[in-house]
Amino acid sequence: MKNKIIKSAKDSRTDKTAKNKIRAKNNRTTFVSKEEVLKFEKRLLSVKDTSSNNFLNKTIYGALEDVAEKLPKHFVDLLFIDPPYNLNKDFGNNQFKEKSDKDYERTFEKWFLSIKHTLKNTASVYVCCDWKSSTSIYSVLNKYLTVRNRITWEREKGRGALSNWKNCSEDIWFATVSNKYCFNVEAVKIKKKVIAPYKENGVAKDWTENEEGKFRLTYPSNLWTDITIPFWSMPENTDHPTQKPEKLVAKIILASTNENEVVFDPFLGSGTTSVVAKKLNRKYIGVEMNKEYCCLSEKRIILADTEKSIQGYSGGIFWERNSLNIQKDNVVKGRTRSKNNIYEPKLFPEK
Ligand SMILES: C[S@@+](CC[C@H](N)C(=O)[O-])C[C@H]1O[C@@H](n2cnc3c(N)ncnc32)[C@H](O)[C@@H]1O
Repeated sequence: MKNKIIKSAKDSRTDKTAKNKIRAKNNRTTFVSKEEVLKFEKRLLSVKDTSSNNFLNKTIYGALEDVAEKLPKHFVDLLFIDPPYNLNKDFGNNQFKEKSDKDYERTFEKWFLSIKHTLKNTASVYVCCDWKSSTSIYSVLNKYLTVRNRITWEREKGRGALSNWKNCSEDIWFATVSNKYCFNVEAVKIKKKVIAPYKENGVAKDWTENEEGKFRLTYPSNLWTDITIPFWSMPENTDHPTQKPEKLVAKIILASTNENEVVFDPFLGSGTTSVVAKKLNRKYIGVEMNKEYCCLSEKRIILADTEKSIQGYSGGIFWERNSLNIQKDNVVKGRTRSKNNIYEPKLFPEK
C-alpha cells in the first residue's frame, strides 16, 4: 500500500507553530522557519533517491510503507520504534485515527514486518506505547522476537481525570532477535541521592559522599522515574506533539549499542533518536513522513555537531531529576566516574 502524504494545514503551518508563535523570553524551544525548511529540505533523502548505500546518517522524507522495501538486510543494531499510539492524533500532514485493538495490532505488525529484514542477528528492538496498546505491541513482538522486558516510564505530566486514574506512564518493550545481544549495563547506571550506604562485607558499595550529599550509583531497573518530558525551557524542546526526551533515548542507545553501530528510527518525528545517536557517536537513519518534522530533525542534527550535552546525563552518569546543580559541580570539580564515558561493551550471553 502506498501511503499518501496529505498536504494540509500543518505543512504550511510552519510559521504558526514556529516563527509567529508568541513565546516567553526564556523559551528555548527549537523550531524551523519557512526559510529553514527550504534550506534543510535539501539535506533530506527522498524515497526515490534512497538506495542501499546512501541512507546512513540521513533523514528519509517519506512514508515507512514506501521506504521499507528500499532498505537492505541486516544492517541495524538497534531499532527504536515510537509509532503513532492508538489514539486520535494530529501529526500535521498525517492524522492517526484510533482503531480497535485488533486493527491496531495488525497495523503495527505490518509496520514491523516491513522492516524486520533490516535487523542484524544481534539487534535489539525497543517499542514505545501507552497502556492501551501495550498488549497489542507485546503480541506482535512475542511472535517474532524474544521479549526481554517492559520498561515503565513515569512521564510525570498527564491530564487529570475525574472518573479515572491520571495516565502518566508509558511502556517501552525491549526485545532482541536472538540470545546474543549487546547490553552495556555499566553505561546506564543511575546516581541516586540516598540516606545510608548499601554495604557488602561492611564496605559501602558504589558510594560517594561530599558537600552536596550522599550518593549511590545504582543498577538501572525497568521503572524509569528520572526522566521529564521536554518542556519549553529546555533547548531540546520542539513543537512536535509527542517528542521523546533525549535522556530516555540515550539510555536505550548506550545500553544496547556500541560506538559506530547503527540506530534506526522508522517514525523519527522531531529527530530525537538521530540527534542522540550522533551525540553518542553512533550511526543513524530516520524515516518521517512530515517534511517540517524532517527539517526540524536536520536542524537538531546539525546543532548536535557543537552541542553534545544531554540533559540529565553528564560525566558518564544518569542523574536523578532536579539535580542540575550537583551535576555541574561534579563535572566542574572533576569528580566524575569516567571522563570519556567509555565502557567495556559486552555481548550476553558471552561465548
Ligand atoms: C510518536 S511520533 C515520534 C516522535 C519521536 N520519537 C520524537 O521524539 O520526536 C510518530 C511520528 O511518526 C510519523 N508517522 C506516522 N505515520 C508514519 C508513516 N507511515 N511513515 C513515516 N512516518 C510516520 C508522524 O508524523 C510522527 O511524527
